[in-house]
Amino acid sequence: MHTIRFDGKISGVAECDRETALLAASTQAAIPLNHRCGGHARCGTCLVTIVDGANHLTEQGAAETRVLKALKANPDQRLACQTWARGDVSVKY
Ligand code: FES
Repeated sequence: MHTIRFDGKISGVAECDRETALLAASTQAAIPLNHRCGGHARCGTCLVTIVDGANHLTEQGAAETRVLKALKANPDQRLACQTWARGDVSVKY
C-alpha cells in the first residue's frame, strides 16, 4: 500500500495498493485535476510538480517527453496522465 498526496486548491490523499496513474489517483482523492485531452498526452493540462517520491515514478515515455518539452516544463514536473506511482509520492498541482 502506498499513498499519493495532492496539494493545491484542494488537498487530498489516494491510498493505492498497486501501480497507479497520478491522474487516476487524483480522481480517487477527489482532486479536480485538469485533463482536457482525456489522458492522451496531448494537452498538458494535467501538468503537476513532484514534491517528493520522484524515485517511485515510472520513466517518461516519448509522448510525455514531447509534451513536457513543448511546455518548457521544469525537471520536477510530469504529466499526471502519463506517470504511474509505485510508492509514496507528494504532488503539487
Ligand atoms: S490529460 Fe492531456 S496531457 Fe494529460
